[in-house]
Amino acid sequence: MFSSFSKFFLKSPDDAGVFQRMASENFKRYRAEYVQAIVCLLIIAGITAYSAWLMGPIVKDVFYGNDLNQALWLSGTVIVIFLIKGFVTYRQNVIMQRIGNNMVARYQRRLFDHLLNLDVGFFASQHSVALVSRLNQNVLGVRDMLNNVVLGYVRDLITLIALIGVMFYRDVYMSLAIFIIGPLALMTLAGYARRVKKIAREEVQINSQVATSMQEASHGIAVVKAFTMEDQLRVKLNTLTAEAENRSNKIARITARTSPLMETLAGFAIAAVIAYGGYRVIENGYEPSDLTSFMTALLLAYEPAKKLARLRVVLERSMVNARMIYEVLDVPIASGTKGSGEIKPDSLGNIEFKDVTFSYSGKYSNGETGESVLKAPPVISGMSFTVEAGRTTALVGPSGGGKSTIVALIQRFYAPESGAIEIDGISLENIDTFSLRNNMAYVSQNPILFQGSIRENLRYARPDATDIEIEQAAKSAQANDFISALPDGYDTLLGENGANLSGGQRQRLSIARAIVRDAPILLLDEATSALDNESEAQVQNALDGLMKGRTTLVIAHRLSTISSADKIVVVDGGKVVDQGTHKQLLKRTKGVYARLNNVSAG
Ligand SMILES: Nc1ncnc2c1ncn2[C@@H]1O[C@H](COP(=O)(O)OP(=O)(O)O)[C@@H](O)[C@H]1O
Ligand SMILES: [Mg+2]
Repeated sequence: MFSSFSKFFLKSPDDAGVFQRMASENFKRYRAEYVQAIVCLLIIAGITAYSAWLMGPIVKDVFYGNDLNQALWLSGTVIVIFLIKGFVTYRQNVIMQRIGNNMVARYQRRLFDHLLNLDVGFFASQHSVALVSRLNQNVLGVRDMLNNVVLGYVRDLITLIALIGVMFYRDVYMSLAIFIIGPLALMTLAGYARRVKKIAREEVQINSQVATSMQEASHGIAVVKAFTMEDQLRVKLNTLTAEAENRSNKIARITARTSPLMETLAGFAIAAVIAYGGYRVIENGYEPSDLTSFMTALLLAYEPAKKLARLRVVLERSMVNARMIYEVLDVPIASGTKGSGEIKPDSLGNIEFKDVTFSYSGKYSNGETGESVLKAPPVISGMSFTVEAGRTTALVGPSGGGKSTIVALIQRFYAPESGAIEIDGISLENIDTFSLRNNMAYVSQNPILFQGSIRENLRYARPDATDIEIEQAAKSAQANDFISALPDGYDTLLGENGANLSGGQRQRLSIARAIVRDAPILLLDEATSALDNESEAQVQNALDGLMKGRTTLVIAHRLSTISSADKIVVVDGGKVVDQGTHKQLLKRTKGVYARLNNVSAG
């Protein structure tokens, strides 16, 4: 039934595909509810048609036949059927809205689930707020679409058919004449639908840009004010909102154009019926009651016919929403592997880079420019080195050299283009990504904290950590003092990404989280860069304790952190340019290391 629908109302095969997919995912799931709603809609359609039919006996028996009993009986009938109609309409509304709300919840969960499974690279190609705003707009659009389809297809179409039945019953010839007008209207409307489609996509994109601008301004308000960027941002937002308004108006204009079109056609039809029907009553002795009933049916048919005719125009907008949702759902999930290899429970993990080459290139549709293709020269080229199990290896080198990328590769956020990364001799390709990451604790270059309390944030690292373990970790990271000084202590709720904390405090929480994780492999990306010398020294003490007996890869600039490492690997321009102990490297005075060393020592 719905395939014939989609063929009729949705011209492009692509649209039919999206619709079919949505329908098959949702109609089956809500079958019981839809059946109930459809029964309600059928009753409503039947009552509407019946009330047109009733005009026959009303005119004939009451106005001409002067039958008072019949008048009372008919008026009683009308009360009853309208009561039923009211109740059934209520039921149907509630059912449809419930389906819609549940659908929104399910699409949201599904999208979130899918987002969590996507490559880190996908998110690098998107603005987070734009993505989120687009998804939210689109989910609502999808809900409206299915409900519009059901309402349109079932209520309006069935009502129309029933009313047409009454019309044919009352007068076959006049009914046939009316049907010459119908197809004309449909053709015009198809043209409108095509235009709505294009504008609807632009509308969603502009709205998500508006959301992005607002979020950026509120997030970066300090910089906005410091650089007195207010006017520039205002102009930018004004342009965007004006554009969005313009698109919405365009859609409104096109959609509204369908009304006068239908109105005019209906006017012609009714005029024709009055003239021709009147002529037949007067000249041919045709029953006036039949004419009244026919005209009532015709007038009542106007609303559903109009809605049905506009359905495609309205649906185009939702169709755009649906397609954009599936564009995200269809992004293949992470290059993470489900290999059978596991890191041995007692292993500390000997990490080896074997001639690894990698470049950030990826192909994702970011919904704004369509396909965005990032093709960049290698960031890591022919890199070989070992992070020995149970030891500390430091990565040093100028910024942009590829150090953070190395840490990302070890966590399998990306797969190397060539060469291999092995842990205990097993290539990462063959290790289950989840098990791999479970063996790692990571402190990112920019501390990331989540909505919730400090305690919750620390516990994300290991859900079964006890409160005592959490506080112990915070103590080691020199975070306990400032946490205890907060009004709610460990239950203090964090602002957006910990906005109510200082950079150093955020970094200490991020270190505490890694301590809670208690994993054999430790990856520290400039973990102490935001700390002053004194707290750095204290945190470093804690980290030294933590590093003992673990495989640690530490990226740092400070001499104090680097000099105690078992091995130092100097990375520049995506290559390993030197490696050895602090003492060995110092002797080679011409290297990058010597330069770095001078800088940090001075
Ligand atoms: N997500 C990304 N997409 C594209 N290029 C990136 C991405 N992240 C980093 N780069 C590029 O890779 C190079 C190495 O960056 P990174 O590993 O962060 O260096 P480091 O940590 O040594 O400062 C830089 O030139 C940077 O511009
Ligand atoms: Mg970095």
